[in-house]
Amino acid sequence: MSQPLRLGIAGLGTVGVGVVRILRKQAALIEARTGRAVTISAVSARSRDKDRGVNLSDYAWEDDPVALAKRDDIDVFVELMGGDEGPAKDATEAALASGKDVVTANKAMLAMHGQALAEQAEAAGCLIRYEAAVAGGIPVIKTLTEGLAGNEITRVMGVMNGSCNYILTRMEDAGLPYADVFAEADGLGYLEADPALDVGGIDAAHKLAILSSIAFGTQVDFAGIEIEGIERVSIEDIKAAADMGYKIKLLGVAQMTGRGLEQRMQPCLVPDRSPLGQLAGGTNMIVLEGDAVGQIVLRGPGAGEGPTASAVLSDICDIARGWHGPVFGQKASTLTAATSAMSQAPAAFYLRIGLLDKPGALAKIATVLGEAGISINRMRQTEHRSDHAPVLIVTHKTSRKALDEALAAMSGTGVLASDPVALRIEDL
Ligand code: NAP
Ligand code: HSE
Repeated sequence: MSQPLRLGIAGLGTVGVGVVRILRKQAALIEARTGRAVTISAVSARSRDKDRGVNLSDYAWEDDPVALAKRDDIDVFVELMGGDEGPAKDATEAALASGKDVVTANKAMLAMHGQALAEQAEAAGCLIRYEAAVAGGIPVIKTLTEGLAGNEITRVMGVMNGSCNYILTRMEDAGLPYADVFAEADGLGYLEADPALDVGGIDAAHKLAILSSIAFGTQVDFAGIEIEGIERVSIEDIKAAADMGYKIKLLGVAQMTGRGLEQRMQPCLVPDRSPLGQLAGGTNMIVLEGDAVGQIVLRGPGAGEGPTASAVLSDICDIARGWHGPVFGQKASTLTAATSAMSQAPAAFYLRIGLLDKPGALAKIATVLGEAGISINRMRQTEHRSDHAPVLIVTHKTSRKALDEALAAMSGTGVLASDPVALRIEDL
C-alpha cells in the first residue's frame, strides 16, 4: 500500500478553501485515480479565528507559512496566498530548500521569479506545478507542456483576465460607461484587491509571460511585454467597434519572430464572429498554434473557487501519481534569455481623437497620418462635445512604429483636446 501524499496548505482564501473542500469531498475518487491517499497535515493563513465555512480541525495550524513549508510531516507545499514577494516567495523557497514539491496558483510570483525558482527546484530535484496560475480551470499548462510537446509552437494568444472581459462585455450589453461598470465589478468582488492588476493588464501579462516561456523555450520575461490596460476604453469605442463588426477584448499575443520574442497584452478589436469575439463575461479563452497540430482553442472559467481549485488538484494528483518533469516544459538551464521584439507585423488601427473644434484641426491630423505613410480607411466625426469634436479613424494596415511616430507628431499639432486612443485591429 502506497504512503499517503501529505500536503501543507498556505492560504485559505477563495482558492485554498476550494482545495480543502475538494480534498474532503473527493478523497475516495482521488485515491482511486492516483493510487494513494492525499491528506492535509497542516494549514496556514493570517487569521486563525476566521470562519472559513470548512472544517479545519483535523489539521495542524501554523501562523507562519515558512514554518509550514519546512514541516517534516508534509511532502508537498501548496502555496495559495498570492503576491510576487513576501511570504509566498519566502515559503516557496523554504519548501524547495527542504526538499518539498510545490504547487502554486501564483502567477505574479512565477512571472517575476519563475526562472530562479525553477533553477532552485530542479537543482533540489523538486517540482513546481502551477496549472491554476494561468486561466484558472482551463488545463492550458498541461496542454502546452504535455499535449503539444511534439509541436513547435508558433503563436499563443487569448483572453486571460476574466474581470476585464466581464467589464468590456457588460459595458457593451448595458451601454454603460467604464467607470460605472468598474464600480459594479468591484462591488461584486470580481476585481483583485489591487484592481490595477486586472484593469491595467498586469495580471493577464503575468499569465502570458508564463505561457511564452513554455511555448518558446525562453526564460520568463515579464518585463519584455508591451502592456496596456482597458482603463481608456470608452463606451464610444465599444459602440464604434460594434458598428464595424468588432468587439474589444484585452488580448494577449506571444510569438517568436526573427527579431526576437514578441509579447503584447493590449485591448484590441477582434472580429465579433470569431471565437474570441464571441467570448462573453468572465470566461477565458486561450488559442494555441503549433506546426503539427494547427490551432487549438481552450475555453472555460478563468477564476473562482471551484475552477481554480480544480486546477490545483490536477497538479496534486499528478504528484501523487509520481509525475516528474521540468518547471517550464524543459530544463531551466536550457531556457534561453528572451530578446524582446516590438510587433512589426502591419495591422489596421482604430483611433479615437478628441480634436479642438477649430478650422483646420482635422486637416492637420490627416497631414500627420499622411506624412507617417499611414492611409485612412474610414473616418467619422461624432457629435460635438462642449470643447471638442471626437473623430474616429480606421487606418489601412501600418506598422506600430509608424503609428507611434504619427501619435507623437499629433501631440505637437496643438489641435488635440486629449491624448488619442489607438487600438490594434487583430486579424484572427
Ligand atoms: P485570497 O482569497 O485573498 O486568499 C489569500 C489567503 O492567503 C488568505 O487565506 C490569507 O489569510 C492568506 N495569507 C495572506 N497573507 C498571508 C501570510 N502572510 N501568512 C499566511 N497566510 C496569508 O486569495 P485567492 O483568491 O484565494 O488567491 C490565492 C492565489 O491564487 C493567488 O496567487 C491568486 O493570484 C491565485 N489565483 C486566484 C484565482 C481566483 O479566482 N481567486 C484564480 C487563479 C489564481 P486570511 O484569510 O487569514 O486573510
Ligand atoms: N483577476 C483574475 C481574473 C483572477 O479576473 O481573471 C484569475 O487569475
